[in-house]
Parts: sequence; C-alpha cells; structure tokens
Amino acid sequence: MSGPAERVATEFTEAFGGEPDGSWWAPGRVNLIGEHTDYTGGFVLPLALPSGVAAAARVAQGPVLRARSLRERETVEIPLAEIAPGKVDGWVAYVAGVAWALREAGHDVPGLDVVVDGDVPVGAGLSSSAALECAVAAAWNDLGGLALSRDELAAAARRAENDVAGAPTGVMDQMASLHGRAGHLVFIDTRSLAVEHVPFDPPAAGLSLLVIDTKAPHALVDGEYAERHRSCAEATAQLGVPALRDVSVQDLDAALARLGQGPEGDLLRRRVRHVVTENARVLDVVAALRSGADPRRIGPTLTASHASMRDDFEITVPEVDTAVAAALDAGAHGARMTGGGFGGCVLALVEADQADPVLAAVADAYAAAGYRAPAGFVAAAADGAHRL
Ligand code: GLA
Repeated sequence: MSGPAERVATEFTEAFGGEPDGSWWAPGRVNLIGEHTDYTGGFVLPLALPSGVAAAARVAQGPVLRARSLRERETVEIPLAEIAPGKVDGWVAYVAGVAWALREAGHDVPGLDVVVDGDVPVGAGLSSSAALECAVAAAWNDLGGLALSRDELAAAARRAENDVAGAPTGVMDQMASLHGRAGHLVFIDTRSLAVEHVPFDPPAAGLSLLVIDTKAPHALVDGEYAERHRSCAEATAQLGVPALRDVSVQDLDAALARLGQGPEGDLLRRRVRHVVTENARVLDVVAALRSGADPRRIGPTLTASHASMRDDFEITVPEVDTAVAAALDAGAHGARMTGGGFGGCVLALVEADQADPVLAAVADAYAAAGYRAPAGFVAAAADGAHRL
C-alpha cells in the first residue's frame, strides 16, 4: 500500500503536470505530559509520531499558491498578496497561513504549487494541522532558499495557526513536529524555546505507550480552549508575574491566596493550580527519564496530570475519563488525556503484552456506556520534519 509520500508525488503530476521540485514530510505529535502549559511560558514533553503529512511542491510561475489536498479532494488557488487573517478558511488556511506568516516576518516567499496528504487522524488531537503547516513551511524554506532555523519555522507555523486559522494555541505542536527525534521525547521550554531530546524507549523496558483515540466529538474545543487561554492571561495579570511559569509549587499557596474572592477567583485558582503543578510534573518526568529510571515510575505522574486536567483545568469529557479509568483498572502504569482536551486521545503506559488487553478493556467500557468504539495504536517517537 502506498503512503502519503508516494501519493502526493503521483497526484502532483496528475493535478499540475510535470514533476514536483521535491517532497517534504512533517509528523503529528502526541504529548507525553505538559498540557496547557505552552501559552504561559511553561514546559512540555511531546514526541513526534511516525504518521504525518507529506507535501510535494514546486515553485510556481508567479506569486500564487495552488494547493491541492488529497484528503479533501480539492484544489484552491490564491494570490499570495491576498492571503491574510480572515481571508482563508478550512484546510487551506494552514497552508496559506504559512506563506502569510513568512511574508510578515520579512521573507521573500515564492509562489507554490503543492499537493498535500496525510495519515494523522484529523480531529483526534494528534496535531494534523501542525503537521500540515510544518510540511509546507519546510518546503517553502528549501524552495525559497530562506535558510530558516527550525525554531523560526515553528514560529511561522504557529502564526499561521493563531492568526490565519484563528486558533490561539501555543507553540508545542509545531516545535514537536519540527524538532522530533526517533527514540526521544522533545523537552521544550516554551519561553526560551530551548529543546532537549530526552531518550524514551518504552520497548527496551518491556513497555508500550498506547494511544487511544476516544473518537469523542469535541465540538467545544475552540471556544473552551480560548477561554482557558483568557483565564490564564487574567490570572497572570492579577498575580503580576511575567508568566504562570514563574509561579513555583513552593509559591503556589501564596499565589492562590492573592487571586480574587468568589466563584471567579475560585475558577482562576483551579486553572493556576493545574498549570503550576503540571509544569512541576513535566520536570519530574524529565528528571526521572534523564536519570535512566525505570519508565514505569512516571506512571503515577501521568495519572496525576489527568486528575489535574479533569478537576482543576476542567478540560476532560466523560469519554476521556472513562478511557483513563478503564486503562488504569486494566493495569496501565499511568494514563492521561493528551492534547487540547474535550475529546481526542488518551495515552496509557502499559506492559508491552498488555496493549491489546488494555485497549479491549477500554472498548468494553465504551460499549457499556454506549460510546462509539475507540481506536488505538502503540506510539513510537519518530523524526521531525525533513525533505524526503
Ligand atoms: C493544543 C495546542 C497546543 C497546546 C495543547 C494543550 O494541542 O495546539 O499549543 O496548548 O493543545 O497542551
């Protein structure tokens, strides 16, 4: 069976005639831990997945973007000068948005003929949009001779997502897609953008990182995500700190006491408690893995992250909580929702021979609750964006 890389090259010739100048690849990601910390200067620990998006591209005749998506079976043509926030929507916003962001950063971006296709499930919280942005960013970087660093490409891809696609996200997904490394987690300080590759090889320890797609429809995700972003900004302002990252676990109680009274203050207290304790959990996991400890030891920290997202940040949904509980009951060392929330995927750290039984236990719990059947796969850390 052919994959996205082969399909985009074949489709390019059929759609546009002639050969592409090259093909580029960027992966989706799953976040091991560090949720909703990346827009408050905090820490995240994602890994790039083996699935992602391929882009076959050629410099176009003029300053125009002609983009074709195999998944959408659609070709969109737009002059580069007409790309702006509010002017493009749907899948092409992630492609066109990158050209806009690069131009805004002062780069001379050539017109592009591009065909894209991917194998990251869309809407599962595995960053199919970041993979799309990063694949075309890598193509533009090479074909335009821009010589931008991975951090600069991540910044442009994030602007595409924030300003053109209109989702007020942090930079985790784009950094993971660009900096991924096989066999490693990408530990990112989202304030300095310092990246450390932390070795992570569950199979070597007899383990599997099982990713369970809950298939929960996450209709609320855009509005709720933006609300969490606003709450964190409000708490940051009330506390008078540069970012929530600057509140340590030791300072937490004193900081919480400084937030306003009443239900609004209580809400901000829960949000801040999640972010501050989540940053600490990321550092704990990194310290354990760096020291070569048995990865089973990080299990309780993963589960604590889930409780914090459920009770304090309030971004889980019943399908997600059911999957985590069923995975833990079936023997997972730790389990948590991963990604923006309100559905998407759950990850579980399990003994290698328990991946199928744990997934079956989740499927049974879903059947009993009347939910759609979940899907699952064992994740392995893969390399970040590159030319094919
Ligand atoms: C989404 C966003 C990221 C990050 C996560 C939550 O994936 O794109 O920037 O905020 O949610 O950790």
